[in-house]
Amino acid sequence: MVELLPSILSADFAHLADEIAAAERGGATVIHVDVMDGHFVPNLTIGAPVVKSLRKATKLPLDCHLMVENPDALVPDFAAAGADWVSVHYEACPNLHRSLQLITKLGMKAGVVINPHTRVDLLVDVLPMVHYVLIMSVNPGFGGQAFIPASLGRIRRLAELRSQLGLSFRIEVDGGVAHDTVAQIVQAGAELLVAGSAVFGAGEAERDTRALLAAARRAAAETA
Ligand code: DX5
Ligand code: ZN
Repeated sequence: MVELLPSILSADFAHLADEIAAAERGGATVIHVDVMDGHFVPNLTIGAPVVKSLRKATKLPLDCHLMVENPDALVPDFAAAGADWVSVHYEACPNLHRSLQLITKLGMKAGVVINPHTRVDLLVDVLPMVHYVLIMSVNPGFGGQAFIPASLGRIRRLAELRSQLGLSFRIEVDGGVAHDTVAQIVQAGAELLVAGSAVFGAGEAERDTRALLAAARRAAAETA
């Protein structure tokens, strides 16, 4: 099942509840929240207090993508704020197994994220622990960047590993998901599609969510 996860990074931060409601009317099923600390990535965004407010504004699951150093220190705050899914970067976690255990222990779905330069096969030993794997298809830090084409082979490799290992984690892709890229991303095996500028960039979140989701579903139907 292909799902669209609008990234609020490209939304109007003064009207987040309205932006999310519009995306939900367009068919969004999960909301993607980009948390950046200005250290792990060269940008600073939002944290658990905003998630706490969003929790009251929508019933959709909140997928919190932690682009921070030492995410373990923040994970309990996100749990308390009402996050449903939390993903941490392979590159930020020297004790990745422990980080994923912590997320699960606090009752959330755990995800692991890899940057464009990190080999997919390095994840083999943690794949049984995760609900989802997020493949970054841009270098994290900013919305509106171009999709890196080599990501397609990485998505295919992850899908291949999943079937070889008999696992059922979901494959999420983040960065440059837009009208001109979504079909090949879905055909490569991605099911959870994060999109920021393609959803919120034109100020028409309902219309643009619906259109992107329709294109994704067409590609999924052709692939099946
Ligand atoms: C980038 C973030 C993305 C970003 C995607 O570091 O993780 O979620 O919002 O933006 P677009 O869809 O515009 O590439
Ligand atoms: Zn993200």
